[in-house]
Amino acid sequence: MAKELQGTEGRVFEEYLSEDDIKGIVSEVAQRITADYEGRNPLFICVLNGAYIYAADLYRAIPIRSEITFVRLKSYEGTSTTGHVELVTPLREDIKGRDVVLIEDIVDTGTTMHYFKQMLCEMGAKSVAVTAFLFKPEALLYPDAEPEYVGKSIPRKFVLGYGLDYDGYGRNIPAVYALKD
Ligand code: IMP
Repeated sequence: MAKELQGTEGRVFEEYLSEDDIKGIVSEVAQRITADYEGRNPLFICVLNGAYIYAADLYRAIPIRSEITFVRLKSYEGTSTTGHVELVTPLREDIKGRDVVLIEDIVDTGTTMHYFKQMLCEMGAKSVAVTAFLFKPEALLYPDAEPEYVGKSIPRKFVLGYGLDYDGYGRNIPAVYALKD
């Protein structure tokens, strides 16, 4: 029987990816990134809060010369065409001419990655690629936000665990659980 978790208001989550599944996924993505970025001194940018656990596992499995930094982003509904995403914590690293790899927990509509990639290109990055542990292709609104390095594509389900939260909770669950229909 599938492992289940009880959420608030009668919601039930069932195990979707086990810890072993996650290990396999992370190791595959790490190998692809290692092969593509060897000798390029990439700068990894982990998008907090959700991606910190994926970033910790992924980064330790990429044995190349590189740096990692962390940002917090705030998304907002704006009327400005350049807006929608704002840096809550400033980026101290000079990204001019750098190959940047963004580490995201999940790409859903792609709004966050679309605007953040645009911002980094305007700041002078040489290239910007995205790795997302999970990707919901059916929800994507911005084609340029499709991650180059996807751990696993999933249907439009709400998921939690492995850094992903449900109203702030559940990030510490080592496996990924999906909301049952
Ligand atoms: P996007 O800008 O629509 O792609 O949304 C990306 C952000 O939404 C992620 O970084 C998550 O914080 C959050 N998110 C989207 N789907 C889920 C989910 O199923 N579980 C938890 N957080 C999610």
